[in-house]
Amino acid sequence: MGSQTSAGQQGFNTTAIHAGQEPDPLTGAVIPPIYQTSTFIQDGINVLRGGHEYSRGSNPTRGGFEAQLAALEKGHAGFAFASGIAAEDALLRAILVPGDHIVLGADGYGGTNRLINQVLGRWGVENTAVDATDLDAVRDAVRPSTTAVLWLETPSNPLLGIADIAGWARIAHDAGALLVVDNTFASPYLQRPLEWGADVVVHSTTKYIGGHSDVLGGAVVVSDASYQGQPVAELVAFQQFAAGAVAGPQDCYLAARGLKTLGLRMDRHAANAQALAVWLREQPGISAVHYPGLPEHPGHELAARQMDGFGGIVSVRLAGGEPAARRFAESTRLFGLSVSLGGVESLVCYSSEMTHASVRGSALAVPTDLVRLSVGVEDVRDLRGDLEQALAAVASLRSPVGV
Ligand SMILES: Cc1ncc(COP(=O)(O)O)c(C=O)c1O
Repeated sequence: MGSQTSAGQQGFNTTAIHAGQEPDPLTGAVIPPIYQTSTFIQDGINVLRGGHEYSRGSNPTRGGFEAQLAALEKGHAGFAFASGIAAEDALLRAILVPGDHIVLGADGYGGTNRLINQVLGRWGVENTAVDATDLDAVRDAVRPSTTAVLWLETPSNPLLGIADIAGWARIAHDAGALLVVDNTFASPYLQRPLEWGADVVVHSTTKYIGGHSDVLGGAVVVSDASYQGQPVAELVAFQQFAAGAVAGPQDCYLAARGLKTLGLRMDRHAANAQALAVWLREQPGISAVHYPGLPEHPGHELAARQMDGFGGIVSVRLAGGEPAARRFAESTRLFGLSVSLGGVESLVCYSSEMTHASVRGSALAVPTDLVRLSVGVEDVRDLRGDLEQALAAVASLRSPVGV
């Protein structure tokens, strides 16, 4: 089963560097080796030397990463998967049966929506999308006896909405359902949903946890909650083994290495994002800035309570609408035009067509004047300079030379 934790009272960075990452007892190597093996020699039939039988079931490199992440999320056990979506799929299929119902925040990653609607929907799982900031709407959407999972993403992708995790947890538990929080945007450094009553955290470890845009991965971290009399940890462990979308040892090594510097990186991401958000809202080409660190953000007070910082993602709306947003996204030089986020390098994304194409034309569509910035850890004056020249390119669109 995924690795159990023994989280003490250590500081975050100490835990990030040491939990699950003990030096190799055989050689003293400071960094635990990458166990690039599919299977493990047995000393007799079913006599396992180190508890490992076959790497789909468990692998020491994966186990180390799972323990490290679970300790940081203050969870009971962690499970690593081949991608964030694979983690979400495994969790949902571990819990749900046909006829069950999910309540989910309407403003979230388009791929999660696609999974829930177009994959699980075909297997008879229903869902209702609600405004995640409206707890009455969340409660009203719950269906007695069939709602099994409440799914929340906060901050949300890409509108940076902030929802009340403890409020969602109360509604879930009153209904006998589980609260799952996608903690990808905040990372455990800035927010630990299990401490606010969530039962499960999911991650795209592709993002801030890996941190360097060089690995794809996902994770599920569970509390010691049970669902219908069975520990959630056991349900997920079974699904991970039986359906097999596990993360490989190389990918777990990269994710574990990234996780060690998460705190350092997040501080810098957040400082850069705050500075750019403050600057962006003064720019005439920008009609709105979505960043929970700004005092005018509707979720600012809640974020200040629930989080330990406001994160590295800033979304902006362009005064010139869709043409301006497209021009802005295609004019940056340091900010690379790309899907994904959370790496040390800054990225820019035209969300409505790049990450949320699957919900285009629906009530969940992302505004076409919106551009999402994943603010990296470069020098902030260089980032500001890049955005300044991109805004100048947008201005030239509005008033072409000679007109
Ligand atoms: C908030 C969020 N959750 C989940 C995912 C899916 O993760 P992955 O791309 O690793 O499958 C993403 C990917 O962009 C995301 O932004």
